[in-house]
Amino acid sequence: MKILSIESSCDETAAAVVEDGREVLSSVIASQVEEHKLYGGVVPEIASRRHAEAIVPVVSKALSDASLTMDDIDAIAVTHAPGLIGALLVGVNFAKGLSLATGKPLVPTHHLRSHIASNYISHKELKPPFMCLVVSGGHSHIVMVEDYTKMKVIGRTRDDAAGEAFDKAARTMGMPYPGGIEMDKVAELGNPDAFKFPRPVVHDAPYDFSFSGLKTAVINLIHNLEQRGEAVPREDICASFRSAVVELLVSNTMKACEDFGVKTLVVAGGVSANSLLRKRLSEESEKRGFMFFKPDKSVCTDNAAMVGSQGYYEYLSGNIADLSLNAVATLPIDYR
Ligand code: KG4
Ligand code: ZN
Repeated sequence: MKILSIESSCDETAAAVVEDGREVLSSVIASQVEEHKLYGGVVPEIASRRHAEAIVPVVSKALSDASLTMDDIDAIAVTHAPGLIGALLVGVNFAKGLSLATGKPLVPTHHLRSHIASNYISHKELKPPFMCLVVSGGHSHIVMVEDYTKMKVIGRTRDDAAGEAFDKAARTMGMPYPGGIEMDKVAELGNPDAFKFPRPVVHDAPYDFSFSGLKTAVINLIHNLEQRGEAVPREDICASFRSAVVELLVSNTMKACEDFGVKTLVVAGGVSANSLLRKRLSEESEKRGFMFFKPDKSVCTDNAAMVGSQGYYEYLSGNIADLSLNAVATLPIDYR
């Protein structure tokens, strides 16, 4: 079964063709990041306009790269939630129009479920059940994936997402958006023990995260150094901050796996590209005899191939929408 998939939840307009949930026949991504860099973050109004401009050429290229036409496509999967509402609406309305014009079924796909599915593309043997740490720019969740479309949230952030914390800390040091990527590179050059940042735990919720105190601590440190006219040791700050965020993510995730007796661990979302997070999850999994899976770096951040993968399993589970489908800014991962 061939699925044409569409993604427009944030600042990437993407389309792909995926066969049977696992084989990527084409994947096209038009990134707006250079434009948003000028403002230090995503400007929602600009994102919507750029999606509207890019959607037709991006979808056309996904079909032509796969040497296919709409006649060869069996269903259309689209990210309908969660994300920037104006951005999501572009993809959803385009997919609805295409479904109406071609009579192909329309499959609504949850963005975070798609991030998890990026692992099905990278690891053909991976099947639920497993525990998944989902860490993106907007979300940080520990999710028990019982089946492809059946999941339970075990832990979540109480405030900022991990990616957001990376981006804001990096921005305070004048690093370009999205700061997480740059911070990961600069951190390689620094000493992770140079600064002791707080490692907050959430009382009575051992799997939940809180990153806002950590973010405030790094921002205060930078401002204090600047006010005193002292140099900001960027490498050491990046290394220490990255280490604090990663250790919080790793310790709660390992605890969740142990407490729930799950021996297969998966990581997903943009922050899963972080080199220290990949290394530490791998080391701690090995110590405990867990199987550990991480997505190829090419599918960690937003793309439509992962939407085509998850869309396949949503289709099989009967998740098919009619033309009343709307975009939703916030929707829990276990919504159905
Ligand atoms: O999943 P994603 O592409 O978009 C959302 O759904 O939010 O994630 C983007 C986030 C950004 O916050 C970005 O800074 C972060 O992923 N990110 C990283 C790395 N690569 C991307 N954070 C830390 N280290 C990285 N190597
Ligand atoms: Zn994403």
